Amino acid sequence: MNLPFCSRGSLAAVLLLAVTLVSCRGQLSDKPPVQPQQNMFYQERFNAQQENPFFDDNRAMRMPVEGTVARGELRDNIELYEGITEGGGDFVEENPMEITEELLYRGQDRYDIFCSMCHGGTGDGRGIIMEGQYGYVPAPSFHEQRIREQPDGEIYSAIYEGVRTMPSYKTQIPVEDRWAIVAYVRALQQSQNVEEEIVREYGIDIAALQEAYIREQEALAEREELAAVDDDGDISVERGEQLFTRQGCQACHSVDGTDGVGPSLLGLYGSEREIDDGTTATADEDYLYESLVEPGERVTAGYANVMPAFGHLSDDEIYSLIEYIKSLEDE
Ligand code: HEC
Ligand code: HEC
Repeated sequence: MNLPFCSRGSLAAVLLLAVTLVSCRGQLSDKPPVQPQQNMFYQERFNAQQENPFFDDNRAMRMPVEGTVARGELRDNIELYEGITEGGGDFVEENPMEITEELLYRGQDRYDIFCSMCHGGTGDGRGIIMEGQYGYVPAPSFHEQRIREQPDGEIYSAIYEGVRTMPSYKTQIPVEDRWAIVAYVRALQQSQNVEEEIVREYGIDIAALQEAYIREQEALAEREELAAVDDDGDISVERGEQLFTRQGCQACHSVDGTDGVGPSLLGLYGSEREIDDGTTATADEDYLYESLVEPGERVTAGYANVMPAFGHLSDDEIYSLIEYIKSLEDE
């Protein structure tokens, strides 16, 4: 080989250098990389939550200067940002965004990402997290009358402020997307309550829908049957106690007499209950059954009608819960 301008020795040196440089790539090292030019890679700074003795309160993280607003952060439209009316503090009745097809699709997209794992793809509260019985407080179905009647601002507020045990999603979801989700929740609610006439008007094949529904119910029943094989339809206090935690009852009910979101279940069985319509009832088995399957039927006086329905549990699960409640006797 005869290369111009290049001796054999220098060629070897160049090759060696190339090989050495290439061999450095992709290797892990504990040492900081060599950076011939430092620029501003390294400079003194504080980490989040670190102390800084320079300030009186020793906080490195500073609050915004009073009376100032960061660019793009002027939240002067309280209806849009918080879903409540100016001054009054009532929930806004109607979505302040213009409802377009695009907004609804955006809402669907965001709903599927941020809400469906708990509230379910159709808003029935049977998302994967809830089906898993991880002891999470059950998410209510959006098709309950109570939630269908809520103003748009109240749905928005669930995303913005959170509601009881559901955390706020305001840091993850920007304002316009929150309203897009509200619009989509409204669409879901309508989709589950359409009158047959309207469906007919749009030439939708009702028979096919009904067939699909029956197939879905059969598949669901089969799945539940499979899941139930484990416990042999057993009804027991132990199983009830287990379900009590797995279904997240303890988030709202204590078993030691202390009041929570709901009444304590200690000594409930056999006691006289005051209902919010002024009547009374004895907490016998039928009453407890109804409390679990249709909690909105008779709401205990002094409490909000917020208990989710547990009608999707099998009868032996419900009766195990009832056995457990019966075992919680006042000494
Ligand atoms: C990690 C599970 C989870 C996620 C995710 C979630 N929720 Fe919830 N949601 C709940 C639970 C649990 C409740 C009931 C809280 C309670 O009663 O303590 C609830 C309650 C609600 C309610 C009913 C409020 C009422 O008045 O009873 C609305 C509306 C709601 N969520 C909307 C949403 C929307 C919209 C999203 C998506 C941005 C969302 N949720 C995401 C778990 C979740
Ligand atoms: C999100 C909170 C919440 C969850 C979760 C919840 N409950 Fe409730 N429950 C309530 C509230 C509030 C009441 C009182 C209002 C009413 O009667 O609906 C209530 C009422 C009851 C009652 C009737 C009590 C009475 O005073 O007559 C029973 C029984 C009951 N719950 C059992 C359960 C069981 C068992 C579970 C779990 C499978 C459960 N609850 C989950 C909130 C909750």
